[in-house]
Amino acid sequence: MYKVALAGCGRISKNHIESLLKLREEGIEEIVSCCDVIPERAQEAAEKIGNGCKPYTEYSQMLKEADADLVTLCTPSGLHPYQAIEAAQAGRNILSEKPQGCSLEACDKAIEAADKAGVKYMVVKQNRFNPSIQLLRKAFEKGRFGKVYMILANVLWTRPQDYYDMAKWRGTYELDGGCLSNQASHYVDLVQWFGGDIKDVTSQFSTQKIKMEAEDTISVAIKFATGAIGSINATVLTYPKNLEGSLTILGEKGTVRVGGFALNKIEHWEFADEDPMDEEARRADTAPPSVYGYGHLPYYRHVFDVLEGKSQPMCTGREARKTVEIIMKAYGK
Ligand SMILES: NC(=O)c1ccc[n+]([C@@H]2O[C@H](COP(=O)([O-])OP(=O)(O)OC[C@H]3O[C@@H](n4cnc5c(N)ncnc54)[C@H](O)[C@@H]3O)[C@@H](O)[C@H]2O)c1
Repeated sequence: MYKVALAGCGRISKNHIESLLKLREEGIEEIVSCCDVIPERAQEAAEKIGNGCKPYTEYSQMLKEADADLVTLCTPSGLHPYQAIEAAQAGRNILSEKPQGCSLEACDKAIEAADKAGVKYMVVKQNRFNPSIQLLRKAFEKGRFGKVYMILANVLWTRPQDYYDMAKWRGTYELDGGCLSNQASHYVDLVQWFGGDIKDVTSQFSTQKIKMEAEDTISVAIKFATGAIGSINATVLTYPKNLEGSLTILGEKGTVRVGGFALNKIEHWEFADEDPMDEEARRADTAPPSVYGYGHLPYYRHVFDVLEGKSQPMCTGREARKTVEIIMKAYGK
């Protein structure tokens, strides 16, 4: 059984713990320790995990003592690369929550540390596993779009001031970023996954309502090396609730729009040629249970397949860096 050490016992850690407890039942892994700077959170998580999971308040201490194969980072985003470096130096494989970090320099150092230590460094991008996105990828890889002209993502969501007031790290450039870095980072990842190498990024953004340092509304324009144009619009000011989380690809021989409130519906699927996957697209149960997509369980299955040597990692530190690069360019940093 793989041994997992989990850092950060806040909101998203619950999805990690739930998935990991299922995999424990299957004899795949065991969470041996968890840590949070807030002692009650570490204690509560350890009790939920059971089986002697040891709580810590010091990440470094946990790394020193826990005999873990994988360290999972569910801490504030800006800390991820620094904690990844420590984990790599301790010889542990790393699964970092998204985004990979809040500075390219820190992400580069983390990639370098993982390379040097010869450990696996993966970043959570669970939306790539949504059935609708998988199907879209299959069509794309088969060349059904012909030349891709434009890739658009809209993340028109709502977050109240209370959400930002929950923790000091939220909405700061150092540890979080605004709606592009936090809410839209999966969408940035998808746009670059389909768009490829980037030539230029420009943006307009502002903080209109939420009291925070970073932006609550942003529009990003990307020019890809192929000549295709990418466009990402994100806001947390949609009245009165989440309206849209969509990805649209316009190509020479095909148009697909995966929409709904969070990539949960194939709204348009049209290609010049016919293919058995068209029927699949019509029938697919593409509705994920929440804005987090299909959740972390399929992603963890993939991560343990990678550790087992059965799969290549879907999103390495290097792949995740591409998203951080777009975000940093959009922020002018
Ligand atoms: N994959 C997804 O769809 C998804 C969804 C939500 C959040 N996230 C990401 O997960 C991360 C955490 O978000 P959250 O909403 O759970 O935040 P949160 O504030 O609820 O949880 C973060 C936890 O980390 C703890 N922490 C802070 N510094 C620490 C340190 N040095 N060592 C150990 N613990 C420390 C905090 O006390 C807190 O309990 C963010 O990077 C966020 O972007 C990903």
